[in-house]
Amino acid sequence: MDAQHIPGDLINVLFTPEQIQERLAELGAQITADYAGEDVLLVGVLNGAVMVMSDLSRHMPGHCQMDWMAISSYGDGTQSSGVVRILKDLNTDIFGKHVLVVEDIIDTGLTLSYLVQNLASRDPASLSIMTMFRKPEAATNVVDVKYVGFDIPNDFVVGYGLDYAGRYRNLTCVGTLSPHVYA
Ligand code: IMP
Ligand code: MG
Repeated sequence: MDAQHIPGDLINVLFTPEQIQERLAELGAQITADYAGEDVLLVGVLNGAVMVMSDLSRHMPGHCQMDWMAISSYGDGTQSSGVVRILKDLNTDIFGKHVLVVEDIIDTGLTLSYLVQNLASRDPASLSIMTMFRKPEAATNVVDVKYVGFDIPNDFVVGYGLDYAGRYRNLTCVGTLSPHVYA
């Protein structure tokens, strides 16, 4: 689905599919270089990170493994609920492994700080974070994010895995959702 298929739903397009792929190619190369000689396990956070995981991993010019977690911090709304729950845990043991968490977006950082604490307690060899998008509040958060696709304004955005009430994940670009959609 492209922006043209949802006329009026977006205020603007922040990133085109081409811009997203270009940035992921840079990050993929950087990550592969940083983990040279090591096996890296990419941990994708469902459902939002599906697109990022899929494209980032294919932009990596070397091996990686993948596993998935599902956690919930938002309901169907546009505000963080403050409640974080594990809905699906990893299939693999990360003890002694080099783990890179792959996130779609960091807003308050609440979800991530919980996740990092939880994963760190399993004693991985290393634990780093990659996020495709980051909002301003997250930049002031204690959680250290090693790889950031794009810093974005503090607006509610959809597309490329990011949803509003379960929709727009399959939008190929990323855009600011018009308030009339959720008003
Ligand atoms: P945080 O705990 O406030 O950092 O929220 C992180 C989660 O909230 C992300 O993984 C997304 O699922 C969701 N989220 C935050 N901002 C947006 C947005 O602008 N659009 C869609 N989902 C968002
Ligand atoms: Mg998410």
